[in-house]
Amino acid sequence: MLVLAILLLLFVAIELFFDSGSESSRNGLITVGFSQCKADESDWRMHNTRSMSTAFNHPNYRLIIADSNNDAAKQMADVQGFINQKVDYIVIAAVNETGWETVLRNAQAAKIPVILMDRTITAPESLYTAWFGGSFKEEGNTAVAWMEKHFAGRTASVVHLQGQLGASAQVGRSEALMEGISRNKWNLLAQQSGDWGTDQARSIMTSWIRQFGIRINCVYAENDNMALGAIRALQEAGIKVGGSEGVAIVTFDANRWSLEMTRDGIINANVECNPLLGSGVFEIIQNMEKGIMPPKRSLAFEEAFFWDTITQAMIDRRAY
Ligand code: AHR
Repeated sequence: MLVLAILLLLFVAIELFFDSGSESSRNGLITVGFSQCKADESDWRMHNTRSMSTAFNHPNYRLIIADSNNDAAKQMADVQGFINQKVDYIVIAAVNETGWETVLRNAQAAKIPVILMDRTITAPESLYTAWFGGSFKEEGNTAVAWMEKHFAGRTASVVHLQGQLGASAQVGRSEALMEGISRNKWNLLAQQSGDWGTDQARSIMTSWIRQFGIRINCVYAENDNMALGAIRALQEAGIKVGGSEGVAIVTFDANRWSLEMTRDGIINANVECNPLLGSGVFEIIQNMEKGIMPPKRSLAFEEAFFWDTITQAMIDRRAY
């Protein structure tokens, strides 16, 4: 009987030892659960995912990527899954900016630090350790400032291709445009989400061309992939695009191929949203492993490019 009791105690002790630590305590690796919006949603997102995989391709780390397919509910379940797996860190590129309180409280209760990358959320800052990314509102303000110069003395009649509704990138860029429209008394002819995609944007733009025709003198597309869809629709309709006389194209992300279209005068204003955030997230976690806490908010470096000032040398210097 005594032997049985000792064996039982031994079994429980082993279980507790292996279960008490995170998954990493079992194999010595620091396990990072990365919740991504949707890996193939846009060129930007592919560069972003690649930057995380590259940064965490390190002997001391194990990166687990969960792809939410841009489904906010699935993303919450993915993050809860990381908590259940007892990962050491959770990194989130949030599909939606709202609805995060419950799962982040669960992460906090499990003592798992959460780092937001790219997208911001509306939950209290106390529920996550740090955010690293670009300022979407500032990106939008930069685009609107160009529009104000380009349309000085005349009225912009804008069609607005929004990103996935509820994403902080969509919220910030849309807010900047709506403030610009109100400040300058521009015409907002139409507004619809293209869900970051080229095909959807192309079909929306085709219907807007039928509805508004040559009244459209500006497309404000909240990412390159949607801008490409709009450009294709305009060109198929035989409408001049870009330059000083064509329908002005305003876009975000500054992928290399869109910078080449900017150089060629097809895209007028191209505001960078830097996807290469993996190394910054890696540095945050590396420092936390040494007991160094990161600032609550860190801004990625971003710039803007315009059809009449961009050079090939600028494009050649780009990393994505
Ligand atoms: O959060 C950044 C945005 O997400 C990019 O501008 C867009 O391409 C992606 O979907």
